[in-house]
Amino acid sequence: MKLLWTLILLGLTSAAPTKQIIQNTIGVTEYGDYIVNVTIGTPKQQFFVQLDIQNNGLFIQDKSCSGYFCSNHTFDSSKSSTYRFVFQNTSRSNNYTIGQDIVNLGLSPNLLPIPNTIFEQDATFYYGLTDGLLGLGLQNLGGLGLIGNNLPILVNAYNQGVVDQPIFTIYLRKNIQNGDVGVITYGGVDSTNCGSVIAYQPLANYENYIIEFSGISYGSYANSSTYTTIVDSTYDGIVGPPSVIESMAKIAGATPNQIQGQKGDYQIECDKKLPSFTFTIGGKQYTVDSNQQIGAKTVIRYMCVWRFYKNVEDGFWIFGGPFAQSYCNIYDPGNKRVGFALPKGQ
Ligand SMILES: *[C@@H]1O[C@H](CO)[C@@H](O)[C@H](O)[C@H]1NC(C)=O
Ligand SMILES: *[C@@H]1O[C@H](CO)[C@@H](O)[C@H](O)[C@H]1NC(C)=O
Ligand SMILES: *[C@@H]1O[C@H](CO)[C@@H](O)[C@H](O)[C@H]1NC(C)=O
Ligand SMILES: *[C@@H]1O[C@H](CO)[C@@H](O)[C@H](O)[C@H]1NC(C)=O
Ligand SMILES: *[C@@H]1O[C@H](CO)[C@@H](O)[C@H](O)[C@H]1NC(C)=O
Repeated sequence: MKLLWTLILLGLTSAAPTKQIIQNTIGVTEYGDYIVNVTIGTPKQQFFVQLDIQNNGLFIQDKSCSGYFCSNHTFDSSKSSTYRFVFQNTSRSNNYTIGQDIVNLGLSPNLLPIPNTIFEQDATFYYGLTDGLLGLGLQNLGGLGLIGNNLPILVNAYNQGVVDQPIFTIYLRKNIQNGDVGVITYGGVDSTNCGSVIAYQPLANYENYIIEFSGISYGSYANSSTYTTIVDSTYDGIVGPPSVIESMAKIAGATPNQIQGQKGDYQIECDKKLPSFTFTIGGKQYTVDSNQQIGAKTVIRYMCVWRFYKNVEDGFWIFGGPFAQSYCNIYDPGNKRVGFALPKGQ
């Protein structure tokens, strides 16, 4: 009887509403990909993985990887006591294993442990300069391999009571300091770096973080069409319809990129004064800071990348880079919406 009471009391104590909100630094690779630390298994094996809003699921380089492209840290399932094998596809072109284990977003002491997380172990996939990929996109994206149809990792965390809300917030600094690009907050709104939420916008469909917006203006250029855009903090620039981007390039004085393989469709003088890019989401005006529109130096001296890119087709816009540095993005899959806030101090 005494034991039972102890258990009940413990149960009550742990049910207190103090679930975790975890903040981690976002880093960057030489290729410009955003990275975060995660660990998998018991004991923990540590990896840095590329953050990606347009994929769903955790993908990690497996120990069986052999070849020049394999990353320096690979996952060894035989060394984890909590690992469970789920499935293996042994096709030559796409040899991967699906496993399940405890995945920790972040590193101790800023760590969010999520039990029963399904992930993909890849032997043949190339992850650039990282050990894998953390897709924080939505469920029916398909994703790479099999696991895109699984619950998003934070929804899985929420269902197991690990977080109060399946929300994550991405705050990106306007100036990168020593490879420190920004902060990701798992499990809630980032009230450390972001002001109060300006508004949430419902998703236009549930395949991705896609919303409607309207009424763009850029200097003397204006277009009152209604558009859809993917809100993707992990994407480097702003992508739009060719006709619109071409008109905006004329206003900016950006010139087509001459060099094959160089990033960006356009280049611009690095110290050029540009108009701000303004548009309307859900009746509210948002402005992309002109300083954020100019990217890294190109191979031509004095020229920089203009961070507006042309969509291949007249399809979606993508709001990344300059937009994500002007506003904190709050991804809320449970309520099918995405929210925006100004970084603090503005
Ligand atoms: C990842 O963890 C290592 C320590 O193991 C640390 O040096 C590095 O800065 C971390 N990266 C990020 C992006 O937090
Ligand atoms: C592996 O580590 C070396 C030395 O630290 C580094 O130069 C290389 O880029 C790394 N490779 C990958 C794929 O992470
Ligand atoms: C294994 O992967 C191949 C290549 O992607 C795919 O065609 C096949 O359907 C997969 N097999 C299973 C059982 O999922
Ligand atoms: C697939 O990978 C496993 C190791 O994970 C390896 O034993 C097997 O030979 C591979 N199969 C093919 C067809 O490459
Ligand atoms: C406004 O945008 C629409 C849709 O992208 C495009 O068809 C049209 O040409 C644009 N109008 C101007 C004046 O650029």
